[in-house]
Amino acid sequence: IRRPPRSTLSSSSAASDVYKRQDKKNLVAEAALDYIQSGDILGIGSGSTVNKFINLLGSVKNKIEACVSSSQKSTELLHKMKIPVIDLKECDRIPLYIDGADEANSHKELIKGGGGALTREKILAQSSEKFICIIDESKVVDKLGKFPLPIEVIQLAQSKISLEMIKIGGRPVYRNQFITDNGHIIIDVHDLDINEPMALEKKINHMPGVITNGIFSIRSADEILIATDSGVIKG
Ligand code: 5RP
Repeated sequence: IRRPPRSTLSSSSAASDVYKRQDKKNLVAEAALDYIQSGDILGIGSGSTVNKFINLLGSVKNKIEACVSSSQKSTELLHKMKIPVIDLKECDRIPLYIDGADEANSHKELIKGGGGALTREKILAQSSEKFICIIDESKVVDKLGKFPLPIEVIQLAQSKISLEMIKIGGRPVYRNQFITDNGHIIIDVHDLDINEPMALEKKINHMPGVITNGIFSIRSADEILIATDSGVIKG
């Protein structure tokens, strides 16, 4: 739906060079601007792709009423762009939520939380009418789980949850020197065999001490925009 300029397509080697240089995150962030309707309150995710989106949002900020942010980092950047940020409890509805992901499958289920903002991201995704996920093609997978699954955990439960993760075949790794915006720790779980994302999302979320985990299956994305070598496609 959005392609690099025609002039860059003159020869295949030149094109591939251009595409190698092409900032795919920027391209896909730009494509997401098309989804904004006048007067919208926007939900804003977190991460480097979303940062590109926030930077571009500056050029259309008169079109939107305000943003609801999923992290302190996104809030800071929005403030820098002089875009109003309001609290979730101040808005009746969020027509559109824009966020990145660490992995996405063909069912639009995601793994998120590489940046540690998964809980607030999940709250915003679930509060939004439309969730557009913006990624580059390296994030597309047949099966979720190659990216270690982030789990936000109350510190007291660290060893208990780590043992539970070992029981289900995972290899938990404490995210060193990282505290979430909510004041909790992150355990990144490697090697999980995620055959049924929704079942695993529910199972882990039921463990006492877990704030939430980074599987987004109960509330998956509505649309995925994927930046590829030949432009942005819908997943
Ligand atoms: C943060 C996230 C991000 O969306 C995810 O980590 C992708 O980030 P990036 O756009 O930097 O690749 O879930 O908690």
